Amino acid sequence: MTRFDIITVFPELFAGVLDCGIIRRARQAGVVDVRLVNLRDFAKDRHKSVDDRPFGGGEGMVFMPGPLFEAVESCQSGHVAGGDAAGIGASDAGKGEVVFLTPQGRIWSQEMAEEFATFSHLILICGRYEGVDQRVVDHLVDREVSIGDYILTGGEIPAMALLDSVVRLLPGALGCGESAVNESFSTGLLDYPQYTRPAEFRGYAVPDVLLSGDHAKIEKWRREKALEKTKRVRPDLVDRCAARNSRN
Ligand code: ADE
Repeated sequence: MTRFDIITVFPELFAGVLDCGIIRRARQAGVVDVRLVNLRDFAKDRHKSVDDRPFGGGEGMVFMPGPLFEAVESCQSGHVAGGDAAGIGASDAGKGEVVFLTPQGRIWSQEMAEEFATFSHLILICGRYEGVDQRVVDHLVDREVSIGDYILTGGEIPAMALLDSVVRLLPGALGCGESAVNESFSTGLLDYPQYTRPAEFRGYAVPDVLLSGDHAKIEKWRREKALEKTKRVRPDLVDRCAARNSRN
């Protein structure tokens, strides 16, 4: 079973994601164990402070190292002090891979999701405010991950995206008829368009070829459509695909 510990000041944000669809089913099936760790449980004062003003001055607040080190260490020892255990099953101790969600990180990709799906224990740190004390990044974090070049109000939504993309790759997470291999990323191109019933909707018809029953023709049409779309919206993927093919 893969274990995720998610360290956050807003554990309540995760309720919907953990209790719906494939993630809920994977948790129930014992494929994944997700624990929410409230960073404020590791605060030292009665106000439950976890951040402070930056040395050297400047705007905003910075997460202090103390609560984050203690929260991560509690995950590593298998005891989540006061944590809101959303998961099932006993803990397995171990260092785990400590991942910090930050716009300063490496851009998340399907390739990274595949690598993370091989880990048994992931500890995700969700940042907030202006950032975290650099000693956390230098001495506690194994990897910094960004989900794209834009700034969110915190690392919680990025952590959900990371969790979702890894869980669907875990053996046993998807039911029969569901495929973890996405056409887009296995071919290196974006997906071809899909249609379902009715064959005509408000005057808009499904392309004839899809109703022809000629599988070779359908394959060819899908490849052409995928390439056309990828050239239009993601020319970078076409170049990458060509480079990969020329190496092989
Ligand atoms: N925190 C704020 N914005 C982020 C992003 N784009 N990726 C990861 N963490 C973030």
